[in-house]
Amino acid sequence: MILTANGGAENFQMRDVPLPPLGANQLLVRVLASSVNPIDIELRKTGAIGYGAESVLGFDAAGKVEKVGVAVTDFHPADDVYYSPAFGLPGSYAEFNIVDAGLVAKKPASLSWIEAAAVPLAGMTAYGALFDRAHLRLGQTILIINSTGGVGSLATQLAHRAGAYVIAVCSGPNMALARSLGADRVIDRNTEDVVAIVKEEHPNGVDVVLDFAGFDWIARCMDIVRPMGQMVTIVNPAGELAMGYRKNVTLHYSFLCRSRCTLEHLTDLINRNWLKPVINKVYRMEEIADAHRCFEQGGGFGKIGVSVGS
Ligand SMILES: NC(=O)c1ccc[n+]([C@@H]2O[C@H](COP(=O)([O-])OP(=O)(O)OC[C@H]3O[C@@H](n4cnc5c(N)ncnc54)[C@H](OP(=O)(O)O)[C@@H]3O)[C@@H](O)[C@H]2O)c1
Repeated sequence: MILTANGGAENFQMRDVPLPPLGANQLLVRVLASSVNPIDIELRKTGAIGYGAESVLGFDAAGKVEKVGVAVTDFHPADDVYYSPAFGLPGSYAEFNIVDAGLVAKKPASLSWIEAAAVPLAGMTAYGALFDRAHLRLGQTILIINSTGGVGSLATQLAHRAGAYVIAVCSGPNMALARSLGADRVIDRNTEDVVAIVKEEHPNGVDVVLDFAGFDWIARCMDIVRPMGQMVTIVNPAGELAMGYRKNVTLHYSFLCRSRCTLEHLTDLINRNWLKPVINKVYRMEEIADAHRCFEQGGGFGKIGVSVGS
């Protein structure tokens, strides 16, 4: 699926293009599912990081290995795999994708193709924020802003399974979902005062704040994170952050780190039924423009899946 120009969702066109040559450490994968991530929308609109006309978007993939490079020993044709395609290379809105074998893990057997493709980008982001940055520990109290979106719906489950007391922030229609994902307390960001409630219920402050929404959430939550606490944002934060300095708060900016090791860890958790992707809607690749429009309408939860092929 080629992006013919940056701008609206109408700029996608299905077209045959030649595949680049397969490198020694690469896999050729027949893509069976992808998903929509906010980065697809941003790159489609802006052309940032080189995604102009003739680009192929798509940063999640689940599929079957078709061919392996000459130096690859740990994957074989017909293996079921999942991964997040690297930035700067043709993505997974395509029937075939070439990927470095080091980024790829075996697909969890219990997941459908669509479910598997909902995990890599959001799951590795959630895992990195929780454990590589915040170093979440048993019994800690964690506040998760945007707890039921693509990243948040996985992070809420991971935090719950890690033994944290999870305070989830989302909008009213998603509150039941947040509870089902393991949240101990759910706050409606539209009708309730998140800061006032957390201040009253946790006067010493929460140990960790995860911001998966941006805006001024980090600035607002400076008031309710405990001194020496951890804050992680995956979106550029707005607002006044000076209070963090006075409270000795650590603010982490966290960006997706792709690794087979993290994906395999997520696979283990999925196989134990400790982690399950949340699928909101599924579109066929031919309907990618509608999938993008649906995403841009907002008001969703979990992931929008994209099925590829028949
Ligand atoms: N740094 C990285 O590596 C990285 C990786 C992945 C994603 N991201 C970024 O992280 C963000 C979340 O990604 P995602 O895939 O989870 O997005 P998503 O699934 O699109 O999240 C959308 C949800 O955000 C919530 N939301 C909207 N406006 C909000 C606001 N003002 N305050 C709080 N919540 C709000 C809404 O849920 P409710 O109405 O229920 O609150 C909405 O359904 C995006 O900005 C994305 O670009 C960064």
